[in-house]
Amino acid sequence: MKFTTPATTNPIDQLKVVGRPLDRVDGPAKTSGSAPYAYEQNDAAPNAAYGYVVGAGVAKGHITSMNLDAARRAPGVLAVISAENAGTLGKGKFNTAKLLGGPEIAHYHQAIALVVAETFEQARAAAGLVKVTYAKEKGAYELDKVKGAAKQPKGDDNADTKVGDFERAFAGAPVRLDATYHTPDQSHAMMEPHASIAAWEGDKLTVWTANQMIDWSRGDLAKTLGIPKENVRLISPFIGGGFGGKLFLRSEALLAALGARAAKRPVKVALSRPLMINNTTHRPATIQRIRIGATRDGKISAIGHESWSGDLPGGQPETAVMQTRLLYAGPHRMTRMRLAVLDLPEGNAMRAPGEAPGLMALEIAMDEMADKLKIDPVTFRILNDTKVDPEKPGRAFSQRRLIDCLRSGAERFGWTERSAEPGKKREGRWLIGMGVASAFRNNLVMKSGARIRLDAKGVVTVETDMTDIGTGSYTIIAQTAAEMMGVAIDKVVVKLGDSSFPVSAGSGGQWGANSATAGVYAACMKMRETVAQKLGMNPAEAQFSDGAVSAGGKSVALAQAAQGGELVAEDAMEYGDLDKKFQQSTFGAHFVEVAVDAATGETRVRRMLAVCAAGRILNPKSARSQVIGAMTMGLGAALMEELVVDKRSGFFVNHDLAGYEVPVHADVPHQDVVFLDETDPMSSPMKAKGVGELGICGVAAAIANAVYNATGVRVRDYPVTLDKLL
Ligand code: MOS
Repeated sequence: MKFTTPATTNPIDQLKVVGRPLDRVDGPAKTSGSAPYAYEQNDAAPNAAYGYVVGAGVAKGHITSMNLDAARRAPGVLAVISAENAGTLGKGKFNTAKLLGGPEIAHYHQAIALVVAETFEQARAAAGLVKVTYAKEKGAYELDKVKGAAKQPKGDDNADTKVGDFERAFAGAPVRLDATYHTPDQSHAMMEPHASIAAWEGDKLTVWTANQMIDWSRGDLAKTLGIPKENVRLISPFIGGGFGGKLFLRSEALLAALGARAAKRPVKVALSRPLMINNTTHRPATIQRIRIGATRDGKISAIGHESWSGDLPGGQPETAVMQTRLLYAGPHRMTRMRLAVLDLPEGNAMRAPGEAPGLMALEIAMDEMADKLKIDPVTFRILNDTKVDPEKPGRAFSQRRLIDCLRSGAERFGWTERSAEPGKKREGRWLIGMGVASAFRNNLVMKSGARIRLDAKGVVTVETDMTDIGTGSYTIIAQTAAEMMGVAIDKVVVKLGDSSFPVSAGSGGQWGANSATAGVYAACMKMRETVAQKLGMNPAEAQFSDGAVSAGGKSVALAQAAQGGELVAEDAMEYGDLDKKFQQSTFGAHFVEVAVDAATGETRVRRMLAVCAAGRILNPKSARSQVIGAMTMGLGAALMEELVVDKRSGFFVNHDLAGYEVPVHADVPHQDVVFLDETDPMSSPMKAKGVGELGICGVAAAIANAVYNATGVRVRDYPVTLDKLL
């Protein structure tokens, strides 16, 4: 189904099921422990042997010798795989470094061997017997040292942008800010590590895996192994978090496949926590210079944002300037990204890539400008709102309610209680401050397909390779099918995460909810036609509700249509707004209150509020869970998260959850989430948008701004730890 904008009234607008705060349909299976995660698929792949991954002990160089004899002789060992005996491997589209390294080493803990044994302990013990010597090479590990050699990254979206004459306008502006901000490398640190079980049947490979994008990873696994894509099946029904870390094929899935081929039986591989952080991807550190010039009455006349980040050769930049192209008005503007070569592990997408670190800088800069102008930071943002794309005048936003988010948030949060002057509010030993930030994340629309089955009992089954990474996909897809087919939610069965199902949008870039449900909508439209024809009704007239189909004064049970055998319908939804006439984005505002210990600098977040304008909210309960999770992640980014680089050896030192600190319950205060009532007919017939990444965007800056308001200390270098306040 090709969708032509704008969406008109359609069955989804009934909102009998969609838009309701239903409990998660997969909740009981998950809370009772009966939902099988990749590593637990023991019934599907019985008698699996265990693989243990050996990671490179240097960051850059090559292997001079690798002795596998002792490992091969160790008890229980079935096979040892390395680049030497793995055969010719291709490279996937989505990974930068090879997933099985050697003899060249691209980064620390790049996988160089897999030991397969009868038990996990035997595999781990034998892995310890693998003897490797290296010739080390000097690598680049510090962004600030290689920043000068950074180059303009490839790709149209990564090109410099320019409107008017930024340099001149900035130089002539009455009020100016020129500040540089640092965001550190961060880790996804999801609960479930990367895990896969692989099994071969002849030349056909099945992999039970934890992966956000089934079709991408199926393609990359086939490409890497050099076999046809049709011979690979990926199954990923339940995923314990991803945050972008599982967007792509990673080493454990490839190695499980290679191990299973060598051992001639199923092999399961999970990356151990200490290996995960350097073996897989992370959010790259950035250095961002922001210049803003404004008139004395607070109108931005010039805005410039430059960002530097690093990656392995052939890698991508962290696109931290993207929101600055779209968020605020101003006639003279420039953005620029530069990419340096770093020999740290591979950088890639982490929740709201680009905008999350970009807003960490931009939204402090906006606070600093408001301070210089002596204008309230909420007012300053409102003054500089724009109704059109400021780089492409005349191109409107499909919806843009930033001002409503800021105004209603300020009122609900009690913003008038904030002291305009920093360091003025105190409760005993605690300095109290409030901060605000705008939230912005683009809304991407992806093609997505689904298949619907209707059986003789009136049960509607949805099949799509869409994934649920803890986000609630099962539930909103069930709601969509129930609404479209006019049945109760318990008459819907949802099957996800299997490459034998139609290709979906997958879970990434906060496009999953809107795109995947739109695909289900398309398949349901086709099923409605099929049903109407079976029942001899005019498809254009047929109404589907309460388990019945009615048209022309006649009403028949839906199940009636399938009495002669199961009905099957399949379709995909293609992008709305094909000619991109409108800019589609999501907006929000974050408000935070912090208390900072006047003596120690310890910061405690007290209250958080997010107001979001993100199209139709398909399920307010699961959407709220997404946003409070994202706010918590933003709190981590503000106050604690940082991968610490070993500058001599080139790896992330704190590569486990003891050293890589994330918020725990005691760190997370009262959180409030408000969704503005909005539908966006440009996004899809669902009129929904993404919200799961919007929730993190701006949070860290709101906290840093609140810390400034509490203490008068401006920190431009994340995380805002107590040593930076004293
Ligand atoms: Mo997201 S970083 O595209 O999972």
